[in-house]
Amino acid sequence: MGSAKSYRIAVVGGDGIGPEVIAEGLKVIKAAGITLDTSDYDLGGARYVKDGTVLPDDVLDEWRSFDAIYLGAVGTPAVPPGLIERGLLLKMRFELDLYVNLRPFKKAGEHPHDFVVIRENTEGAYAGEGGFLRKGTPHEIATQGSVNTRMGAERAIRFGFELAMRRNKHLTLVHKTNVLTFSGDLWERAFNEVALEYPEVTTAYNHVDAACIYFVQDPQRYDVVVTDNLFGDILTDLGGAVSGGIGLAASANLNPTRNGPSMFEPVHGSAPDIAGQQKANPIAAILSGAMMLDFLGESAAAERITAACDACSEMIGSTSEIGDAVSAHL
Ligand code: NAI
Ligand code: MG
Repeated sequence: MGSAKSYRIAVVGGDGIGPEVIAEGLKVIKAAGITLDTSDYDLGGARYVKDGTVLPDDVLDEWRSFDAIYLGAVGTPAVPPGLIERGLLLKMRFELDLYVNLRPFKKAGEHPHDFVVIRENTEGAYAGEGGFLRKGTPHEIATQGSVNTRMGAERAIRFGFELAMRRNKHLTLVHKTNVLTFSGDLWERAFNEVALEYPEVTTAYNHVDAACIYFVQDPQRYDVVVTDNLFGDILTDLGGAVSGGIGLAASANLNPTRNGPSMFEPVHGSAPDIAGQQKANPIAAILSGAMMLDFLGESAAAERITAACDACSEMIGSTSEIGDAVSAHL
């Protein structure tokens, strides 16, 4: 049943529970019959503390020829906040143009839901526009602009319509057009214009504050959601919280043009509080591995792994026991 192809994967286990959960993801992918040609990269907070390295340009250039990057989590309490986020995660997103951040949310039971959020991943409030004036004085000023290009919004929106066409043909734009009258207007116009090309897709619009209520009270209404970088960051954490928690939340950072690798990682961080104890739930990392296989064209293996994870999502056990159970379920 295995695929004859082999894929070149850059593996960044990272810090804390990162390497523990990635080990299970690789174990399950192997059990599914997929051959990966992996190269390990020692990057993250611990590496930074060791020798000051964050993400060298030659490593980034090496990655350009890989099929994908599989990442655990990066960050340690010893490293100043923001340094690794900006120097590694954001640098990767920007330099490799990973402009779609995809996060699926699924819950079984009495009121099941199954939707996907597309977060624009390269612009908005996270683009780094802004600065200080009179820093450190009582008259200090900080500005942090939100950068929205028509091209950037449109390509995320277009990905949303394409994804909706492969799902239940419904796409919701989330923004705050009533107050953010410039960026909201650009997003809304781009959305409405692209919608004309997809007459089969029904559309909706929610203000982001209303979306927070619907995510909790009525997530069944969603199929695909598209939104900007900041709103998407917050909404996807909320989505995770209403869909089984952080131990199950998977994500993909995609370059849909495929002129370089895409990156796959669990939503959670390095969880220093439980690191090294085999207490982490590896399901989020395993599901992120399944998203990687799906993007590489191994959709049958991806579906089998996802189904096995669904079957094991309530399981109590050590990190490696859960990985073994998922492998056994394939
Ligand atoms: P976190 O996600 O690491 O932990 C939050 C809470 O969730 C903790 O109580 C942790 O034990 C629990 N948790 C997380 N993943 C779990 C899993 N798989 N199974 C069971 N419990 C789990 O977020 P926190 O504490 O804010 O950040 C810790 C470090 O991780 C920081 O250095 C932060 O910068 C970094 N981080 C890195 C991310 C990334 O690499 N993409 C994303 C978020 C945080
Ligand atoms: Mg976040």
